[in-house]
Amino acid sequence: MLRPRRWVGDSDPGVSMCPTSRRLAVLCAVGVLSCASTRGATPSSSADTPLRDLGDAAGLRIGAAVAWEPLQKDPTYAALVGRHFHVLTPEHDLKWAPIEHEQGRRDTRNIEDIAAVAARHGQDLRGHTLVWDLEVPGWVDTTDPQALDRALMAHLRATVRENLDRVTVWDVVNESLAADGSRKASVLHTQLGPGHLGAAFQVARAEAPDARLFYNDYAVLWPGPKADGLVRLVDTLLAAGVPIDGVGLQSHLHLVSEGRLDWPGIRQNLRRLGQRGLELHLSEVDVRVADLAGGQSGRLMAQAQAVYALVDACRDEPACTTVSFWGVTDRYSWVDRTIGPDDPLLWDEAGQPKPAFFAVQDALMGQPWRGCRQSLVDGDVGRGLGSVTVGGGRARVEAGADGDGRLVLDQRTESWHGPRLDVSEVVSEGLDYRFSAEVRVRKGRPLRSTLRIEDAAGTRFVSLAEATSTGSWQDLSATTALDLQAPVNRIEWYVEGPPAGSRLEVASLDLRVACSPASVPHKR
Ligand code: XIL
Repeated sequence: MLRPRRWVGDSDPGVSMCPTSRRLAVLCAVGVLSCASTRGATPSSSADTPLRDLGDAAGLRIGAAVAWEPLQKDPTYAALVGRHFHVLTPEHDLKWAPIEHEQGRRDTRNIEDIAAVAARHGQDLRGHTLVWDLEVPGWVDTTDPQALDRALMAHLRATVRENLDRVTVWDVVNESLAADGSRKASVLHTQLGPGHLGAAFQVARAEAPDARLFYNDYAVLWPGPKADGLVRLVDTLLAAGVPIDGVGLQSHLHLVSEGRLDWPGIRQNLRRLGQRGLELHLSEVDVRVADLAGGQSGRLMAQAQAVYALVDACRDEPACTTVSFWGVTDRYSWVDRTIGPDDPLLWDEAGQPKPAFFAVQDALMGQPWRGCRQSLVDGDVGRGLGSVTVGGGRARVEAGADGDGRLVLDQRTESWHGPRLDVSEVVSEGLDYRFSAEVRVRKGRPLRSTLRIEDAAGTRFVSLAEATSTGSWQDLSATTALDLQAPVNRIEWYVEGPPAGSRLEVASLDLRVACSPASVPHKR
């Protein structure tokens, strides 16, 4: 017999062994995990566990783009920056236009302040970026190829020299590819020709022999023509003896209703670049979720799963050494300023850690993503109704012989006189869910698990699972993605029984993210 059991706070035996690997052993040794004995201790982390400590144990460096203003004015932001990262990327202050807004008057005040913060916390600077068609100052004469080349190279030399002691990695060239993988017809390309890339790397190498020199671009993480173009570009540069050490894959992700990210393809793509002897950085990670239909906490879970998969993919690829986020708290994200309202980062507007933050911790600790183990609803009906309501009939909680309770519904007159749960806030597109109910009803009667969805597409009922009762406790469960259209008004989950008369017993209701191997790579 399937017996009632508790869901909330269940521990996962899959993570209770410590240390099971070299990496876990290191975590125990450095005190990141509490591992009193070799068996039975559960790796743990909290909101305060610095990502960089977990990164050290995992062999990954963790970074963030930082902006001058919040570093000066927002102590919560500044504290997160100081605590969690190995490496800081100035979000603006090494770009050409901010540094040399007026010709010949270099403004290095902001970068000096940021460098001082980094020095205080033992952090490196990632230099972003020397050659980029955006942020060319207005005074540069882009109509004259020679004048443009002179100005660009002078800027490059001066910027590298000013930061010699503190910038360990330069994005020498940023975003020179078009969506189809060809060279973007930027003003730099059309005026200076394709050779300006190689020349920039040569000059950077001459100026900073110890720095690692990177090419950085967006929309090259996943397979496609642009990723293929990137491989062609680096092959050309390498064949020409250009001193390129690595590639930054920006990794601005945008989760949308149609289609999901191709994680196996992303891993193969990283491998393909790694095989060329290049160091790889996921250099500008953020995950937009505002376009997913669903509840906000559901969207943030979809974001967390994507962040987990991203960090996990980098961790598994020997060439991938750094995961750097494009910002710290949602309050100052460039996405809000340039694209539209969203919440793409690891900490919310108030600086509180989001599910995505804990997903990074899980990935760095080599644990499965905790999102697969958390119940999204309070469906432990044996303890009381909690957030469960009943459609009709008489409901009471009864103790079973084993001490566990169950919800008993009698005097029912309709099939839908059963438990229901409002799940509007916790579900979203972009994830698969497992809805499970443990139920008992007289043998031979129909049982059904149903969603009532009220969204922009109208009001409809979706059948999740149907069964004929066995007369014993049975598991009525289903795994599904949700087809929703924003805005979503309300989503209710019903467990239905026979039309009338029969008493319906429910031991538990549970809703979780279903983590199939396809949705979250699990290889350990
Ligand atoms: C963005 C900054 O975040 C914005 O604040 C700024 O106004 C424009 O640049 N790819 C890059 C980054 O390489 O330099 C961009 O940063 C974001 C996209």
